[in-house]
Amino acid sequence: MKAKDTKTVVGNIDPDVLHFTVGKDPILDLKLVKWDCLGSAAHVTMLTKMKYTPRLFSKQDRNNVVVELQEIMKRVEKDEFIITEADQDCHLAIERTLTEKLGDVGRRVHTGRSRNDQVATAIRLYIRDELLCTMEENIALANSLISFGKKYKKLPMVGRTHLQPAMPSSVGVWATCYGEGLLDDMHGLWSAFDFTNRNPLGSAASYGVPLPTDRPLTAALLGFAEPIHNVMYAGNSRGKTEYVAVTALSNVMLTLSRLAEDLIIFSMPEFAYFKLPKEFCTGSSIMPQKYNPDVCELIRGKAARVMGLVTSIAATVKAMAGGYNRDLQDTKELMMEAFETTRAALRIMSRLVSGITPNPERLREAFEPGVFATDRALELVASGMPFRDAYHQVRDNLEALKSMDPDNVIAQKTHTGATNGLDFEMYADWLKNQKEAIVEERKKIDKAFAGLLKPLK
Ligand code: ARG
Repeated sequence: MKAKDTKTVVGNIDPDVLHFTVGKDPILDLKLVKWDCLGSAAHVTMLTKMKYTPRLFSKQDRNNVVVELQEIMKRVEKDEFIITEADQDCHLAIERTLTEKLGDVGRRVHTGRSRNDQVATAIRLYIRDELLCTMEENIALANSLISFGKKYKKLPMVGRTHLQPAMPSSVGVWATCYGEGLLDDMHGLWSAFDFTNRNPLGSAASYGVPLPTDRPLTAALLGFAEPIHNVMYAGNSRGKTEYVAVTALSNVMLTLSRLAEDLIIFSMPEFAYFKLPKEFCTGSSIMPQKYNPDVCELIRGKAARVMGLVTSIAATVKAMAGGYNRDLQDTKELMMEAFETTRAALRIMSRLVSGITPNPERLREAFEPGVFATDRALELVASGMPFRDAYHQVRDNLEALKSMDPDNVIAQKTHTGATNGLDFEMYADWLKNQKEAIVEERKKIDKAFAGLLKPLK
């Protein structure tokens, strides 16, 4: 050991090298402590049941480890668990703590696993939980948008293409467009959930161990659907899991960003279709009259950021050789930022949407005659005229459309999903099914964890 080296659980390391390689792990890993404790509880429970002599853990030893792990989980909740630079990360901090409390029993915990499968497991548990939270928040916002749409389903709003006035539409169609968009984004989130819900634990450094470990058991104890079969793939899927999850988040942000952009445009005084809640707008330091839609602008910016995080993760792993590589550590921060950003955007947008007030006068005033042109042409079709002839006749007589009434016109569109054909019962069922599916998954996970933490008799 050189005089200046730092002593760590896994050897002595030059302090500059330690500082560089540890990076932000002592802070970021605080979010993984709970999940790593659960992973460790499953691992030690499996080792206790494993047919192997000499016996690694008696039931009492195992129970003591699980009690200490729960103690660590409580301490981290209260901000009382510290990961030092010499610990490197949460995994070695937890091992150090167990060893301080339990001596040799603590020193046995790492038998048959590597930090590589350990961190991959903790990250999957973290992502699985974050995905469920994101889904809840996503459904809450979809619900707000659909309720808003239902309340104003008969309120006319000009439908636009190229941002130019196009056809008569409604506030109901506009709001449920984004509500349904978020419901559709649930497909990606569930797909990421299923991808994540397999267990890498027991793959060790990526090549397994010469011990009769029971990987299906640890998978069941952690509420995973199954173990990831191939040990090397279990390791290689780190980074890819983050990529899949963050891609699903970026789809949500894409929906939010377009909603935010619409709100920015339609709350401009020139449109004034909607008034954003005052508390969601900020003033200017020089212009006394200002109320700016900063929240929406920042959501647009955050969307760009989450899309950048997808690219950063992909770039980190795309040319990585098979097996563990330390740059995987960096995907952790990218993934965590994506969840934090997306979830904050969903929560603030839910509050904003429930405070929007439409302005019926301005919404109706925007119906310049041309907006009715297509509807009028289709009226002529009803009297037997070929569509192209009707098209030209209307085009040459746009002023004649002045007398058309937006309320009447939007009542005429009764087919699926149009102004007067929106199926709010279908939306209510869709929302309910999604909520129930989330509760169902939570129940399965909670049941697994409750069983895992019980003492062995
Ligand atoms: N903190 C590390 C990470 O996030 C843990 C794994 C370290 N493994 C290793 N072989 N150095 O990747």
